[in-house]
Amino acid sequence: MPNQTLVVPAYVKNAKLIAWVADMAALTKPANVYWCDGSEEEYARLCQQLVDSGTFVKLNEAKRPNSFLACSDPSDVARVEDRTFICSEKKENAGPTNNWMAPAEMRATLSPLFDGCMKGRTMFVVPFSMGPLGSHIAHIGIELTDSAYVAVNQKIMTRMGKKVYDVLGTDGAFVPCMHTVGAPLEAGQADVTWPCNKNKYIVHFPETREIWSFGSGYGGNALLGKKCFALRIASNMARDEGWLAEHMMILGVTNPEGKKYHVAAAFPSACGKTNFAMLVPPAGFEGWKVTTIGDDIAWIKPHADGKMYAINPEAGYFGVAPGTNFHTNPNCMASLDKNVIYTNVALTDDGDVWWEGMEQDGGGIPAHLIDWQGKDWTPEIAKATGAKAAHPNSRFTVAAANNPALDPEWDNPNGVAIDAFMFGGRRSTTVPLVTEARTWMEGVYMAATMGSETTAAAVGQMGVVRRDPFAMLPFCGYNMSDYFQHWLDMEAKLEATGGKLPNIYCVNWFRKGADGKFAWPGYGDNMRVLKWIIDRVEGKAHGVDTMFGVGPLFDELTWTGLAFTPEQFNTVTSIDKAAWADEFKLHDSHFEQLAYHMPKALIDTKVAMESRLND
Ligand code: GTP
Ligand code: SPV
Ligand code: MN
Repeated sequence: MPNQTLVVPAYVKNAKLIAWVADMAALTKPANVYWCDGSEEEYARLCQQLVDSGTFVKLNEAKRPNSFLACSDPSDVARVEDRTFICSEKKENAGPTNNWMAPAEMRATLSPLFDGCMKGRTMFVVPFSMGPLGSHIAHIGIELTDSAYVAVNQKIMTRMGKKVYDVLGTDGAFVPCMHTVGAPLEAGQADVTWPCNKNKYIVHFPETREIWSFGSGYGGNALLGKKCFALRIASNMARDEGWLAEHMMILGVTNPEGKKYHVAAAFPSACGKTNFAMLVPPAGFEGWKVTTIGDDIAWIKPHADGKMYAINPEAGYFGVAPGTNFHTNPNCMASLDKNVIYTNVALTDDGDVWWEGMEQDGGGIPAHLIDWQGKDWTPEIAKATGAKAAHPNSRFTVAAANNPALDPEWDNPNGVAIDAFMFGGRRSTTVPLVTEARTWMEGVYMAATMGSETTAAAVGQMGVVRRDPFAMLPFCGYNMSDYFQHWLDMEAKLEATGGKLPNIYCVNWFRKGADGKFAWPGYGDNMRVLKWIIDRVEGKAHGVDTMFGVGPLFDELTWTGLAFTPEQFNTVTSIDKAAWADEFKLHDSHFEQLAYHMPKALIDTKVAMESRLND
């Protein structure tokens, strides 16, 4: 492209955008530039191109209409946290939890990598809005990518298309999101079905609000509206402008009297947000209804009426497939029957998809599959080698509109007023099923010290406990302790407007018994905890004071339809003194790591809790 002039559609009138696209084309040297319009016709055409090139397999039209399966390179299956950088001018502004490089040094590193990186490929210009188009809460991004897979995923995950340019106008602002798989094609070189580069860089410049992503085509590494923009860059915007960008699902819960509440919950990656957002109340909860506003990200703004209003900036779900079935998440399964892109699940002999957990839906384990790496898979092979049919971080991409439990307010540009925040990691011991923070400060403490056993959503060692404050460890785009302070500051801000702060809850669906099995049934049964939370918000449940907040009494949970004894209840709610003494030591080293700018109030809260434990 260097010697050609850029052809720009007449509806694109933003001079800064046009100049940027021209510069990036000159740098990356694609064979051509294609401006996405976001139409259905375009989506169908690009999907067909992906089928023709072997990236997509079209699924059986009778079983999964208009749906596709992509299988990635085995080296490109999850977010790469060790290759993710926050390049603020000052190192201390990235903080101890982020990788940092000086902006100038990073630019010098990236320049030769991006030079000619799109040779032989098409550069797609993907205009998108995070949040309802034109809403005062929404922000626009433009992703340049050499991956058609990314372009079609962005069509589902965001409000993508031509209309974005109407909002952008001649001089509107946008976040430039530069993405390449980092696999240029020399003349005559054959392509592979999942191009990527073993060298990866997921880079954010918070001061200039830019994203540069090199070498991966997968999920949050490549769909730049999601973690890169809506969390890492947006958390910086939020700090500067007095709002919150969070790794939270948002649900509406309506009681039999028709009163509706809204709850936002932060659980780490692959720890149950999508499941909880689509919860179907079990038998015994007739008249209760749970509806989905978002499943992964919330943008939350304090309002003049003293309440916090949340929107879901996304338009689709990029959800974990394994474990999803009609028992654990029936609404999700219903969402997945058509118009879905699957990534890294297994292919059945009749052109359908399969993943671990589906055997519980009555069909059993298939006798033969093609696994996510394209190999033959049988139950015998699995037994002998341990091979999973679907990758543990395999995912589906589906429009929110497919969700039968979609909340009617999900697209409301003003958002919904939050009544309660929940924070919950994956902990087989120590942390009880649910407790309520007595104060905002105590809630921030619970969130700031949250730990979780790691999952396959990030490349690295699995199942070790790491601190994941606010479920934002990989996503906070600035110094974590400053982020804690930002949360603490919300209290005075809302109280000044005469508002009532949302209650804060710490939950843990993942306690295990002596047999090593989950001691809490989870999934739909989490409704029992949600109802107690609503009872607390309404002032109906008394609760019991514990060292770590207010917990439920056995009789305060509704047990209809579930045989759960007080002994079992004790297994999931008990506070073990020795375990907590160790836990507080871990909080100590966590706070030591975050010592720079650590709010003193949080350290004081710890001291108070510890002395309560020793009483
Ligand atoms: P990201 O999209 O990575 O941010 O994850 P998420 O928080 O949306 O996770 P998701 O809801 O997709 O859940 C991931 C895994 O947790 C799946 O394997 C589920 O089966 C499992 N899971 C979800 N809820 C529960 C629960 O209540 N109990 C147990 N034991 N497992 C659960
Ligand atoms: C997560 O890892 O928290 C996800 C998946 O939601 S990804 O979009 O790949 O980051
Ligand atoms: Mn997530």
